[in-house]
Amino acid sequence: LDDPLIWEGVPIEAHPAWRELDLDALAHNYQAVLQRAGPGRKVIASLKGNAYGHGVVPVARTLEQLGAYCLATGSPADVVAMRRAGIKMRIMTFATALPAGIKALLELGAAPTVHDRDIAIAVSTAARRPVDVFVKVDSGLGRLGVAIEEAPEFIAWLSALPNIRIEGLYTHLPFLSDGGAGWALARIRRFQALAHTLAGCGLRIPTVQALASQAIACGLPDPGNAVCPGHILYGRVPRPISETEVDSAFRPVLAAVWSRIIHIGLRRAGGAYGVDGAATAARDTLVGILPIGLADGYRPSVAGATAHVVLRGQRIPVIAVSLEYTLIDLTGIAEVKPGEVVAVLGGTRESITLDEVARWQGTQPLDVMIRLGANLPACVREAAFLQDAAGALEPTPE
Ligand SMILES: Cc1ncc(COP(=O)(O)O)c(C=O)c1O
Repeated sequence: LDDPLIWEGVPIEAHPAWRELDLDALAHNYQAVLQRAGPGRKVIASLKGNAYGHGVVPVARTLEQLGAYCLATGSPADVVAMRRAGIKMRIMTFATALPAGIKALLELGAAPTVHDRDIAIAVSTAARRPVDVFVKVDSGLGRLGVAIEEAPEFIAWLSALPNIRIEGLYTHLPFLSDGGAGWALARIRRFQALAHTLAGCGLRIPTVQALASQAIACGLPDPGNAVCPGHILYGRVPRPISETEVDSAFRPVLAAVWSRIIHIGLRRAGGAYGVDGAATAARDTLVGILPIGLADGYRPSVAGATAHVVLRGQRIPVIAVSLEYTLIDLTGIAEVKPGEVVAVLGGTRESITLDEVARWQGTQPLDVMIRLGANLPACVREAAFLQDAAGALEPTPE
């Protein structure tokens, strides 16, 4: 906070709430993925959901510098944002388009996913020269993709269409339980058999991928030469494997969400306050206001839970959350003044975790991750290997 923080040309004091992105953690997690996936594996980085809430541009920049093979997103708008920001590397789009939208994806310089015949024909028709595509196979998730038993015939047909170059073959097998790991393993073996069948028919596909975060973290055998991590790149194992080194191998990229108290008021004992005047102050209550709320992806607690923030290394209860404000209970904090810094997530001496926030809000950590700080400026801790003299801890627009 000794550095002046500026957002869109306006000093941060005009709206003192920001999130801290640790791109050094992203670089660390990328290396940890490579270490687990094995030497020579290609990384297709999942940037779904605005890079799991972190912002596609800073994440893509870091991954490009790290030499990742490919970025993957479901959002054409995110492809536009990355290309505008100067990202040159390969971008694959997950299956989201109607056939009528394929031409636009190709014009953005993205390699589309082909998951059925209509999409395949749309790509072949819209392409003016050979274009790379990724074929998605449904190995059992039952969501999107060519059914695995139909894949050999489909791929043979696809490879004969004009202007189609099959760059990749992939499948998605997320799991969250021990039973799920067994299910994924059986499906991975089936997918591996498919890759062998295709190779046996002389169909050489350069990139074959089946493993995402949980499978990489658990060390499931890899049937391909590429992995597609999302969660773990951002520092979370989808289902934490407690008391192993796996969880600590990945560091949170959303390191913290900070705010400063903009106002302190007093609610007198016995008075009726809040919406409908429905809250009674049982004692004189010192109320601090933070300029962060629903609009920034913060949420009220579910019935029976009390959220906390951290001030001076101490946990402080949250009273209420509205569209743009969070009210905190400062009663008993000595000589507290507007301007003091509060951690809504993370912290230094004491730290609020993503799991805690999720529990208070009655939701999943991923849900909190993708929305917390949605509208807030990012104060970016650059990856150490990218840092230049001016780069450290500058808030950068995305
Ligand atoms: C097709 C596909 N591959 C990979 C991923 C990354 O998954 P994870 O975040 O579990 O690593 C996703 C995410 O939803 C996905 O849809």
